[in-house]
Amino acid sequence: MRILVAGATGVMGRALLPRLQEAGHTVFGLARTPHGLLDVSLTGATPVRGDVLDADATLRAVREARPEAIVNLTSAIPRRLRVHPEDWAENDRVRVEGTANLLAAAHEMSVRLFVQSSAGYVCAPRGEDWIDEEAPLSTHPFLQATLRMEEQVRTASVPGVLLRFAALMAADAWHTQQSVAALRRGLLPIIGDGSAYLSLIHVDDAVQAVLCALARPDVAAGRIYNVADSAPARMQEVLPFAARVLGAPPPRTVPTFLARMLAGALTLEVFTASYRLSNARIRRELGFEPRYPTYQEIWTQIAQVVSGQDFVPSTDLRA
Ligand SMILES: NC(=O)c1ccc[n+]([C@@H]2O[C@H](COP(=O)([O-])OP(=O)(O)OC[C@H]3O[C@@H](n4cnc5c(N)ncnc54)[C@H](OP(=O)(O)O)[C@@H]3O)[C@@H](O)[C@H]2O)c1
Repeated sequence: MRILVAGATGVMGRALLPRLQEAGHTVFGLARTPHGLLDVSLTGATPVRGDVLDADATLRAVREARPEAIVNLTSAIPRRLRVHPEDWAENDRVRVEGTANLLAAAHEMSVRLFVQSSAGYVCAPRGEDWIDEEAPLSTHPFLQATLRMEEQVRTASVPGVLLRFAALMAADAWHTQQSVAALRRGLLPIIGDGSAYLSLIHVDDAVQAVLCALARPDVAAGRIYNVADSAPARMQEVLPFAARVLGAPPPRTVPTFLARMLAGALTLEVFTASYRLSNARIRRELGFEPRYPTYQEIWTQIAQVVSGQDFVPSTDLRA
């Protein structure tokens, strides 16, 4: 299949381009800078220039690639710990306007499948209960644009599938590197009683989920899938294990009120919310089988790759 990947230069895109080519697809990667275009071409995929916030440029890029499927992995998630509502503005635009521009271009090309990345966080946290794809949605202000984007894909004229990813874990991902840096310096504590569930997804398995959807477009069209590890665990189990495999000191426990002062109420709400995402549907319907099904396997792989590499915690983490 001819496939255009938007967000080709991101963590997931970089891992996806070679895997798509190995699977025999003809792959195009959308990039908005000369550096990004070069990165795409180095993978063997064909670079096409475009910014998803520019409707004309997006249409030109899609016409050039003439894809049968589009994978939208674009986002602009803020790289700060203490996040303010305005920090989300660009991400909200990429989600809503960018996705609308790509969907309009996809319509013109009559694509067979539009694969859209979303996040498990669009669901309301549920404590110990499992979260499946029908679970109630979040009312958190940071997530409303992502919910609007989901609605656009669900109601679009082209067949679309929504992949709700758990927290993405990759040795080259900024958020993972920040967790490593913070754990090593004793700056990533267990908050409160640590009972919140964490759902993770290794980048190789996130990529596998995209490949599964593209392999069965007729099944995937119109569906929503959680893409998560198979055994989400509590923060009080995950963080000490991660610290151990990194050779870091055991994480301290910090009362919720103190974490709120340090990180801000809105950020804390996201970090301490309990997400026990079920991956049952994507396993059943698309044959997804994670290579890293537990936090132990995920963190062990990350620790091996980052061994010997030092990452500097962002300034607001150190503050
Ligand atoms: N990270 C997580 O924990 C997590 C969890 C759930 C879901 N997701 C979702 O999974 C997807 C992939 O995440 P990721 O970690 O791979 O993201 P990432 O590394 O931050 O990459 C974002 C990509 O979007 C591109 N982009 C941003 N604005 C653009 C624009 N206006 N026009 C064209 N391209 C633009 C970036 O291009 P440049 O290189 O030019 O900046 C980059 O290729 C995203 O949709 C993300 O929201 C992530």
